[in-house]
Amino acid sequence: CVLVVDYGAQYAQLIARRVREARVYSEIVPHTISTEELAARKPQAIILSGGPQSVYAEGAPQIDTGLFDLGVPTFGICYGFQAMTQALGGEVAHTGRREFGRTPATVVEPGALLSEVDPSLRVWMSHGDSVTRAPQDFTVLATSPGAPIAAFEHRERGFAGVQWHPEVMHTEHGQTTLEHFLFDIAGCRPDWTPANIVEETVEAIREQVGDKQVLCALSGGVDSAVAAALVQRAIGDQLTCVFVDHGLLRAGEAEQVEKDFVAATGVDLVVSEVADQFLDALAGVTDPEQKRKIIGREFIRTFEAATRQIAAEHDIEFLVQGTLYPDVVESGGGEGAANIKSHHNVGGLPEDLQFTLIEPLRTLFKDEVRKVGEELGLPEAMVWRQPFPGPGLGIRIVGEVTRERLEILRAADAIARAEATAAGLDREIWQFPVVLLADVRSVGVQGDGRTYGHPVVLRPVSSEDAMTADWSRLPYEVLERISTRITNEVPEVNRVTLDITSKPPGTIEWE
Ligand code: XMP
Repeated sequence: CVLVVDYGAQYAQLIARRVREARVYSEIVPHTISTEELAARKPQAIILSGGPQSVYAEGAPQIDTGLFDLGVPTFGICYGFQAMTQALGGEVAHTGRREFGRTPATVVEPGALLSEVDPSLRVWMSHGDSVTRAPQDFTVLATSPGAPIAAFEHRERGFAGVQWHPEVMHTEHGQTTLEHFLFDIAGCRPDWTPANIVEETVEAIREQVGDKQVLCALSGGVDSAVAAALVQRAIGDQLTCVFVDHGLLRAGEAEQVEKDFVAATGVDLVVSEVADQFLDALAGVTDPEQKRKIIGREFIRTFEAATRQIAAEHDIEFLVQGTLYPDVVESGGGEGAANIKSHHNVGGLPEDLQFTLIEPLRTLFKDEVRKVGEELGLPEAMVWRQPFPGPGLGIRIVGEVTRERLEILRAADAIARAEATAAGLDREIWQFPVVLLADVRSVGVQGDGRTYGHPVVLRPVSSEDAMTADWSRLPYEVLERISTRITNEVPEVNRVTLDITSKPPGTIEWE
């Protein structure tokens, strides 16, 4: 395992992902970790991340020089590069020459780190201080206008560093540089493949579960599907899955779970058909937050009832949860930390129905979850499903949710999705809500008569994390086909509009 020591940079997760893209397993550890703890993890290599602080700033995280006596290959990035310099007897100074953003760098000696890298390259920098003298016996590899020493290495000791950020997309040859460190300097092997992830996870699940019984709730999304499929592969018929079909999914999604997923994995699936119950509870409700509360409450009720029934026959000990690695890192949870609180995460299950959690995706990033899903042979539509809110179409009907309105929205949404897929746009679009303005009537003309129908809103967005988003510039031909088809094929809709608001100020969903 490669350990990425996080000096408070927003880049630590990105570094870990890039290392994994090179097929080397990596994890993030806080900079407060002691050298002993670090050594106990027996890392194959250590990467010191960038950080917001100057090495001179008061309270700046210091590096225990003992770290460099562990005999573990170490790569310093930005702040990590400077901290490494200082710890090994080099010099870091306030030169007054700050560099931010895209910066030209020149390779003066490729060494191992920068071999196959263009002699002049554009890199992404963000520093105020600079390394002015490399530690003894280090080879200087590159310079930039503001950083006389912008990269160095010490082959025998397995040390290297760069002032720039090789992990960001804008840095040329960033991935190559990182891979040279991993493979040529640190001697790592690229064996973190989807097949190996499956094998290791399956092994770990078997060990954790033994001969006990396990329960899993499927949502139709990729995380719960992959988590369940992994557990199924590990322990087969000790697993029971529950699918709450609340009638708020899009066209074909319930079938995907009930037929395709079951066919691909062979899981034992219990389906709760509760669309009527949800619609009754939602009758007359138009306030978005009220809708969310009701849907959440009904979901828990239904899941609890199904669980009680299953628990009456099986002695259930474990519950599967699709927690991903970014959640673990963000909640500050290293080893086991999230497990301590896990009972609270189950979300409203009563005391007598509490389980120990299995979190098979705890170490994975989203793109890895998808690769594992493919490896397990799950339906493609499920593996590549875009994010979809838990309350489903319930919050994409502006106005009261009724069965009839759900059918209208489902039909319009299916057309928009089919056309986006046919145009090959699925992986470019982060999310493509289609919203029915059910309380708005708009006048139209069809054939020789006036119509009085409803508008739908197309809301395709691009985003990286849903925190911010921009509206997707879909080709006009695609928009035209969607509009023509929806107004022709869905009689209740006579107007198709496009939402061209970014987030902020708009949110992705309309409710
Ligand atoms: P907004 O609309 O706030 O959405 O820009 C950001 C992301 O969150 C999803 N979303 C939800 N997901 N329950 C969920 O599980 C919800 O109530 C909910 N509301 C919004 C939304 O689809 C987008 O991905």
